[in-house]
Amino acid sequence: MKSISRRLSWMTPSNKATLICFALFAPVHMSAVSAQTPSEAYNAGCASCHTNERHFRKIARGDDAARRARIVNFMEGHPCERDDLRPLIVDFLVEKTRPN
Ligand code: HEC
Repeated sequence: MKSISRRLSWMTPSNKATLICFALFAPVHMSAVSAQTPSEAYNAGCASCHTNERHFRKIARGDDAARRARIVNFMEGHPCERDDLRPLIVDFLVEKTRPN
């Protein structure tokens, strides 16, 4: 049986690297599909560090548009475990910080 690297010998090294990356990250990407609600998105992207919602106070000022702008701005310089879920996380926070 030919070795994998011989079978892929027609590919350039960077093609191989790309292929390997897809193989490694495809399963992670699939799980992205299952996190659908804004609250699930927050859990996936933020809850590894934030176990309570106290920290919302800092971003809980202004109307929807103002809070959205502040949240987007804040998140740009802040860690997020799931970049693909950022838009959903923003929705979640805008909703969560709406004054009642
Ligand atoms: C790698 C860990 C980590 C992740 C992931 C993370 N955070 Fe944080 N966050 C922190 C730490 C540490 C602080 C406190 C220090 C600071 O204010 O920068 C903080 C502070 C905050 C604050 C400000 C709290 C305050 O009153 O100063 C907000 C708002 C916040 N995080 C939101 C989020 C959101 C939304 C996400 C998901 C997109 C997220 N964080 C993901 C570690 C994390």
